[in-house]
Amino acid sequence: MSQQPAPSRYRPLQVSLHWLTFLLIAAEFVVGKNMSRISNDDVGKIAPLAIHMMIGVLILLAVIIRIAALRKFPPPEPISTGNAALDVLAKLTHGALYLFTLLMALSGIILSLQAGVGKALLGGGALPADFLDFTARALHGFIAPSLFALIVLHVVGALYHQLVLKDGLMERMKVGK
Ligand code: HEM
Repeated sequence: MSQQPAPSRYRPLQVSLHWLTFLLIAAEFVVGKNMSRISNDDVGKIAPLAIHMMIGVLILLAVIIRIAALRKFPPPEPISTGNAALDVLAKLTHGALYLFTLLMALSGIILSLQAGVGKALLGGGALPADFLDFTARALHGFIAPSLFALIVLHVVGALYHQLVLKDGLMERMKVGK
């Protein structure tokens, strides 16, 4: 455990990684949803699939660095909403966001390995007839709406602090000084 005192805001590295992960996950959802509508025997699926996999791996790396940074640099003290249940919900949501993002990326990687996607992308084979034949695909598709719901909850919580409680919570995650 670190002995450093809690700072008043997140460090620039943590702020950058927070907004980078937010943008990458938003892009990942858009690409993922659109490409899953393309048939696996359509060559037009290869490019979005490669982009989706690259963004997914970047998300995984960003989350791992974020978790490591949190262990090294203590986050600011939580700002209470004044309601114990909401404070617990916020804490659970933050933990679940890390967990579900990791699970999403890992299930995607396992699916790609199971389905031999790497070989197909390099021109050494075809994509499987349907990704849904793989258990990891069911998991990936099941976690996706849960992660999406958590992100919505997280945004609603931040807006509640900012617009209703007006406690300046967003200042701690602001880019720049
Ligand atoms: C946080 C990271 C990720 C998010 C948010 C995400 C999101 C999604 C979404 C929304 C879908 C469509 C699900 C559906 O319509 O049921 C999808 C499908 C898929 N994802 Fe990901 N994904 C992530 C990471 C990854 C990674 C790291 C890989 C592989 C390296 C990957 C490979 C795939 C594959 C192969 C599909 C199936 C496409 C199909 O069924 O046609 N994903 N992903």
